[in-house]
Amino acid sequence: MMRKPFIAGNWKMHKTSVEAAGLAREVVERVGDVTNVEIAVCPPFTDIPAVREVVAGTNIGLGAQNMHWAQEGAYTGEISATMLLTLGCNYVILGHSERRTYFHETDETVNRKVVAARTAGLIPIVCVGETREEHERGVTNQVVETQVRGAFAGLDPDQFGGIVIAYEPVWAIGTGLVATAGQAQEVHRFIRDILGELFGDGLAEGTRIQYGGSMKPENAGELLAQPDIDGGLIGGAALTAGAFEGIIRA
Ligand code: PGA
Repeated sequence: MMRKPFIAGNWKMHKTSVEAAGLAREVVERVGDVTNVEIAVCPPFTDIPAVREVVAGTNIGLGAQNMHWAQEGAYTGEISATMLLTLGCNYVILGHSERRTYFHETDETVNRKVVAARTAGLIPIVCVGETREEHERGVTNQVVETQVRGAFAGLDPDQFGGIVIAYEPVWAIGTGLVATAGQAQEVHRFIRDILGELFGDGLAEGTRIQYGGSMKPENAGELLAQPDIDGGLIGGAALTAGAFEGIIRA
């Protein structure tokens, strides 16, 4: 099964809208010609309109980093899937470990968001991954399995089709530590097997599973060469157009 590699930049809380438009322009200049890799950038909410102006009509997709599960309502400070969609977003990152750690997101809220994103027509990039402590205790598979089953609870195969997963070992995010290609491959295969149980082998084999956590041009080639690693969710290295390009061309 051919899965088109998918590289997405998670800009986190970086860049004012002017800076974000500048970075987006550099990204378009460098990788605007790439057709064999799906590419997206996920700037902060407030930068989305400025970045959209730059990437509209190019091969660079646009995503957000979070959203609320309700369509609208009394949720001060929150943003809905429809709001993102009407701003030109195609993707939304859900359940990033920073959201789970600092903003108390749980598998249950991630699940509600996944359903809302799907219903609205956004492609969720659902993040899972174990902490350093869990990694050292050897419970990676249990943690990841609980997160995967939790995030997709109640979904039928039709709703699941098209969803992207990012395996991000928390101990590798922003730390410079990277899972070895072999370690990451094992977890990716494990995730795909769970998806097979939940939604059938056809959908499981067609699902892109990105790796995230200190991916850089220097290590991207080896990670992306693994049979079950279908792309990357890139934090730090996505803030430099040259490094982002290096990963895409790896
Ligand atoms: P990093 O972040 O590439 O800076 O480790 C990845 C992520 O958090 O998505």
